[in-house]
Amino acid sequence: MTSRSCLTIILAAGEGTRMKSSMSKVLHPIAGLPLVGHVVKAVQGASADNAASALAVVVGRGAEDVQKAVGKINGSARFYEQRERLGTAHAVLAAREALNTHHDDVLVVFGDTPLIEEQSLRAAREKLADGADIVVMGFRPENPTGYGRLIEEAGKLVAIIEEKDASAEQRKITFCNGGLMALNGRHALSLIEAVKNDNSKGEYYLTDVVKFAHAQGLNVVAIDVPVENVIGINNRAELAEAEALWQARKRREVMLSGVTLIAPETVFFAHDTQIDADVVIEPNVFFGAKVTVASGAVIHAFSHIEGAVIGADTSVGPFARLRPGARLGEKSKVGNFCEVKNAEIGIGAKINHLSYIGDSTIGHDTNVGAGVITCNYDGYNKFQTVIGSNAFIGSNTSLVAPVTIGNGVYVASGSVITEEVPDNALALGRSRQVNKAERATVLREKYKAIKASKNK
Ligand code: UD1
Ligand code: CA
Repeated sequence: MTSRSCLTIILAAGEGTRMKSSMSKVLHPIAGLPLVGHVVKAVQGASADNAASALAVVVGRGAEDVQKAVGKINGSARFYEQRERLGTAHAVLAAREALNTHHDDVLVVFGDTPLIEEQSLRAAREKLADGADIVVMGFRPENPTGYGRLIEEAGKLVAIIEEKDASAEQRKITFCNGGLMALNGRHALSLIEAVKNDNSKGEYYLTDVVKFAHAQGLNVVAIDVPVENVIGINNRAELAEAEALWQARKRREVMLSGVTLIAPETVFFAHDTQIDADVVIEPNVFFGAKVTVASGAVIHAFSHIEGAVIGADTSVGPFARLRPGARLGEKSKVGNFCEVKNAEIGIGAKINHLSYIGDSTIGHDTNVGAGVITCNYDGYNKFQTVIGSNAFIGSNTSLVAPVTIGNGVYVASGSVITEEVPDNALALGRSRQVNKAERATVLREKYKAIKASKNK
């Protein structure tokens, strides 16, 4: 495999009007990554060990947003514009410049088919390496309506007939075209150039290359790939179905790698979530992008986590919110109804109840009491709160940033801290308590009398 070079062409010029969206169809996300991004990742995975691999993406008119999204994942992708949507073969030919350079393998995949797996792409390329000239990714859907049917004779694929052009007899065939195709680079361009638009839709069908290749005595085969590999997304209901399939796959992968999910169907991962073995995740947890969780951590129920680095043996939640830049040191705790943003929480530090910690660093073994708030924003700018190690921040304290609290400090509950507190100091930032003897009894008598006078 390694000795073969590969060109992959992703067709992403779809109109996607059925998404009812101002955004390109292939940019709609699954697990936080655009549809086309999933395809790019699978393609990269399948050609990671290649001698040479090139990626060409065919986009619609002025689809700069698509180029940007793909560019973020693959810096060397080349983009080609298909100005008119005249069919899948026409779309491939938009990338003629890429096809002019010889590659052993040419893969054509769709940008709206996000669940394509590396293994399926590899399987198709292995067939090419074994001497096939065209490999079509076939599948067996429960309902084949709308798909091109694969016409086989003696184990060879002889034609693909689109639903609209198929006879009643051909429509009974359940082996369908998934749309994705691998071609021998020696024949790809000439076969695709031969395609005409002589069908009921008046489109240039890539699928026609099969009958041309067969007529020339070339070796054309279909492989059978799992259904979800080739499901295309056309509307938001299908987007949600694909999301569900992706999540199911990821949950299984995560569990098999040693993570406990108590109710897997209620846990949602992002495309890049990384979780070490021996992490326990309770029900109803959501992971946004860029989260890593180290071994021994327990994520309690109903936590929402994004952009966070969660250290080993930590405890998060229930009902915790970790926002981008939250970095939890080993054995630290962020408990119920706490929000942490852009903050470093030291080893063994505890923020157990009802806190907001933003733009902060907290040293090791510091205890942050219930309801402590870092006041990091004045409506215009954000400021930093620095808390040392082994400190104790009493409940319901407001830390008005910028402010620094030293090591071993004790802050009295209910304080509003606006000035630096040196190491080991006791800080009291509240008004003194006054007790007025017997005054409660007097007040009660007075109020009772007022009520009685009204009820007369
Ligand atoms: C295609 C296949 C069909 C297969 C089905 C699987 C053809 C002719 N038919 O049909 O056999 O069963 O996929 O889902 O290939 N595109 C462009 N430019 C175009 C036309 C299409 O970029 O001018 C892109 C679309 O964005 C899409 C893909 O090519 O990603 C497939 O096009 P689509 O029109 O959806 O083809 P189907 O009719 O679904
Ligand atoms: Ca389609």
